[in-house]
Amino acid sequence: MKRTICAGLLVSALIPGIAGAQKKSISQRVDSVLKLMTLDEKIGQMNQYNGDWEATGPITKDGDKQDQIRRGRLGSMLNVTGVEHTRQLQEMAMQSRLKIPLLFGQDIIHGYRTTFPIPLAEAASWDLEAIQRAARVAGKEAAAAGVHWTFAPMVDIARDPRWGRVMEGAGEDPYLGSCIARARVMGFQGKKLGDVDAVMACAKHFAAYGAAIGGRDYNSVDMSLRTLWEIYLPPFRAAADAGAATFMNSFNDLNGIPATGNAYLQREVLKGKWKFTGFVVSDWGSVGEMIPHGYVKDNKEAALAAVTAGCDMDMESRSYITSLAALVREGKVKAELIDEAVRRILTKKFELGLFDDPFRFCDVQRERQQWNNPDNLAISEDMARKSIVLLKNDRQLLPLSKQTKTIALIGPLMKSVRENLGFWSYTWADDSARIISPWTGIQSKVGNGTRLLYARGCGITDTSTAGFAEAVEVARQADVVVMNIGEAPDMTGEAKSRSSIHLPGVQEELVSAIVATGKPVVVLISAGRPTVFNYTADHANAILYTWWLGTEAGKAIADVLFGDYNPSGKLPISFPRTEGQIPIYYNHFSTGRPAKNDSDVNYVSAYTDLPNDPRYPFGFGLSYSRFVYSDLRLSAPSFHAGGSLTATITVTNAGGVDGRETVQWYIRDLVGSVVRPVKELKGFEPVFLKAGESKRVNFTIDVEKLRFYNDRLQHIYEPGEFRLFVGGDSHNVKEIPFSLIGAVSE
Ligand code: BGC
Repeated sequence: MKRTICAGLLVSALIPGIAGAQKKSISQRVDSVLKLMTLDEKIGQMNQYNGDWEATGPITKDGDKQDQIRRGRLGSMLNVTGVEHTRQLQEMAMQSRLKIPLLFGQDIIHGYRTTFPIPLAEAASWDLEAIQRAARVAGKEAAAAGVHWTFAPMVDIARDPRWGRVMEGAGEDPYLGSCIARARVMGFQGKKLGDVDAVMACAKHFAAYGAAIGGRDYNSVDMSLRTLWEIYLPPFRAAADAGAATFMNSFNDLNGIPATGNAYLQREVLKGKWKFTGFVVSDWGSVGEMIPHGYVKDNKEAALAAVTAGCDMDMESRSYITSLAALVREGKVKAELIDEAVRRILTKKFELGLFDDPFRFCDVQRERQQWNNPDNLAISEDMARKSIVLLKNDRQLLPLSKQTKTIALIGPLMKSVRENLGFWSYTWADDSARIISPWTGIQSKVGNGTRLLYARGCGITDTSTAGFAEAVEVARQADVVVMNIGEAPDMTGEAKSRSSIHLPGVQEELVSAIVATGKPVVVLISAGRPTVFNYTADHANAILYTWWLGTEAGKAIADVLFGDYNPSGKLPISFPRTEGQIPIYYNHFSTGRPAKNDSDVNYVSAYTDLPNDPRYPFGFGLSYSRFVYSDLRLSAPSFHAGGSLTATITVTNAGGVDGRETVQWYIRDLVGSVVRPVKELKGFEPVFLKAGESKRVNFTIDVEKLRFYNDRLQHIYEPGEFRLFVGGDSHNVKEIPFSLIGAVSE
């Protein structure tokens, strides 16, 4: 203790910027710290390690990390949480010469203690306020546990459901993806960085990681710059504009240059064109992975390539800590480059208020208050209900009556508990008691008069049908059957690519055996990606896509099953009929030989053995209400640049229950100097309609909605003919033509 106080006095004397001069701007304070730093201390700030040791126990797998903290050789740690643990490590940093506080980063992807639906599921809500609220809670809980920085949101566009990380993003669309990126950044970062309930966001993985060839994780990406700018970059731009404090680069190479060593992406676009003032962290080991990529020969060359390209912090590859100093001494890396990176990192530490109080995120009482916080759980349940997508509801089988006499609950996931959290979630000792399974949710929803029967039927990947007889027997005794099938939660996530996305094992055979009983069958499908389930789609009476819904999964499912919540989710990604259609996305080009319809296969761009259309299109999702769109009008048939048009449509709830519809507006540019997609989402609006109620919904078209990247990557609009589409999904739409008069934009 005595030594700590002495160190404090010493540093106060050394660094007026740190200890006293509150009135100085952050940039002046950063400068005064930088002036005091040795080269090694600067490089230390650019170094991040995983916290894979017990702080109180013996040290370490690869060198003495605690000693490195004390010597100022480490700027940040990941995977260290909890007030006690972060405090211990921060105390070590306070023993370093300059007492520069550590940053603690963590993958708070969809919650910390309270787990929310996986990000792809949340995206299905199309509810930006709810998504922002969920990120807000996740940020608060993490900040209360000593975390300063989440490695989220992942804003990678994904057009390939084989890619396991499709679960982490917002799906296939750049516009929806941008709106959600903004909402998540704002949620995590709260009112402002520096508030003790806010964490730094990190937009990742920059860039185009979601376009891995064949959907195989970490694979190469080869795409035109036009596709990069039009499809993959917009959510990153939105995150930067929303003030995301940090970016993470990515594992993939992009057109032959690894993203981590890619100066075009990081220096020219992000820090240059977009004027991003935060810092860039590498992905885990991605600096060193440029060696197996075949881009550099050793860690030293890797460090040179990464730092030159604008990667400010090295996560876990140790290339910076081992090689940067020599590179500077040899004149290969300019000292200013190091200063620039360190300045960016220190600025964030100042903004977080860590120089004023390194322990401000270490408050036991706040940690306790956010633990099992009922408000957070309620927000998670709300988010979960909004994420469920109703894919089928023949003869309005759903919602079920709470007075149903006997319900058979069948399937390998019906009693699942921890599975409901999905990938990127944290395990706590009391998980089995706190997470609500579908079984428990349904049980607490129905009255004493309802008998619930249960049979597992089979496991997720089983090849045996031995459990079918019992399941069929149980189904026969019931008035209605609810089945819960799907993927295992670790079939999606990082490094979880799959060549087959059919429901695994004999699960669909189980559905078939149950359907054969003639009982009405509702199927809940839990998964982290679009899956293929053609038998179920054709034969089950009702289908709810329930993804992985988090801590309150069972409650949310029961709310929807029994009509306490009218489902409103819409798919944020197309669901293929089979893997052969992949990549499949609604905003494709027309081609020179477009197929007229599903049976048109004669020398047109079509598969001869299956339709081009997906099984379920982007934006699709039913409701217990029935929404009717009518009377689409435009304020005028054309407009000039500088002006605008207003489109209006009447949406009517023609069903018997109140409900929420997401009205989706799409545009097609009929003729362009480069070919344009058959449809592009340009706006959406939630409308809540009471049964029988109608509302007029408006949409404004101006030239900003018509811009695209031409072959010289200019973001222009062109005069000509367009079509406006509106509907409850990307397929089933009303349309009206309009035109833009005048000249091509500058
Ligand atoms: C992932 C990142 C993650 C990092 C730290 C990497 O393997 O690609 O998304 O943030 O690990 O856990």
